[in-house]
Amino acid sequence: MLRRLHSEQPESFAFTEANLAWAKGQMTKYPEGRQASAVIPLLWRAQEQEGWLSKPAIETVADMLGMAYIRVLEVASFYFMFQMQPVGSVAHIQICGTLSCMICGAEDLMEVCRGKIAPTPHTVSADGKFSWEEVECLGACTNAPMAQIGKDYYEDMTTEGFAQLLDDLAAGKVPAPGPMNGRFASEPLSGLTSLKEYDSGKTKYNASAQLATDLGDTVKRIDGTEVPLTTPWVGEDGEVAGRVASAPTPKAPEAPKPAVKQAEEAKEAAAKPAADKPAEAPVPEEKPKAKKASAQKAAAATGADDLKQLKGVGPALEKKLHENGVTSFAQIAAWGPDDITEMDDKLSFKGRIERDGWIEQAKTLASGDETEFSKKVADGGVYDED
Ligand code: FES
Repeated sequence: MLRRLHSEQPESFAFTEANLAWAKGQMTKYPEGRQASAVIPLLWRAQEQEGWLSKPAIETVADMLGMAYIRVLEVASFYFMFQMQPVGSVAHIQICGTLSCMICGAEDLMEVCRGKIAPTPHTVSADGKFSWEEVECLGACTNAPMAQIGKDYYEDMTTEGFAQLLDDLAAGKVPAPGPMNGRFASEPLSGLTSLKEYDSGKTKYNASAQLATDLGDTVKRIDGTEVPLTTPWVGEDGEVAGRVASAPTPKAPEAPKPAVKQAEEAKEAAAKPAADKPAEAPVPEEKPKAKKASAQKAAAATGADDLKQLKGVGPALEKKLHENGVTSFAQIAAWGPDDITEMDDKLSFKGRIERDGWIEQAKTLASGDETEFSKKVADGGVYDED
């Protein structure tokens, strides 16, 4: 199956407040500069929120992590757990079509899907409630044929039982997961041959099915109401224990020249020893880390615009811009073609400046107006304000 962006895409994507808080928490799990490591959790959360991964969702995750859009699309399109097209509002049915399940009737289950959901996989049913697909072995071969529905496995299925299960789900019920032929777990179909004294009657279902039944959230998507969040190192004030909070970034006065030109001039000035100045002892080269820190400090001290208000600039790219002396919208607004080429190289994101329209956005923001994206940032819908 071709895994590519769906032909119909929504206008935008924004994490809900709870999901955004969760996503930011995940990003704190990784060292500074390594936030891209959170790409799979964030994509998964975006999918749990919408049911599938749209282009705006992929771009939002990329912006949050300072990654190129193509890198995040590569991850999303590589892993089959990510749905690249809309799915049913109630459930997306994943029928195992590998050996054991195929021998035991998976094709019949898929026929039920074709009749009750849609003739082809990855197509939403007419009532919008279901979609289906064939997947590779899900590791429950002893209980073939089986399907994953939401978070749980339905095993030992018959066509009649599966058809009824779909009807129940459509009616808002959540049938108990696990074996559907009376088996407790994965014991022989003919009954136990050993460990007969084992008392399986303590719970109605096996441990997995019992827990799933007790929770009752098989087809409920993760939406942020689950507690606790798995980021105990983030305090109630939003600060990460053991990390120094970054300095606030007040608005900067307008800068007269593009950063690239400033950097060139600074280089030339440094190269030419001033005739009227006594020769100074050479200053030892700053280490990269120290360089970064001093660039950020300088940006905060001189006052800087919040460059993350530009669509396409996440925290990591903003840091890189600061390191290259770019701290204001006015600087970016004044970039010409040569500056763009040079900054493209420096930021290692070829074409991004033009693709995301940084110059136009920067002109708007430098004039004091807002863009749709900057409004979202200001509302706290994209990043932390710090
Ligand atoms: S073959 Fe279906 S779960 Fe393994």
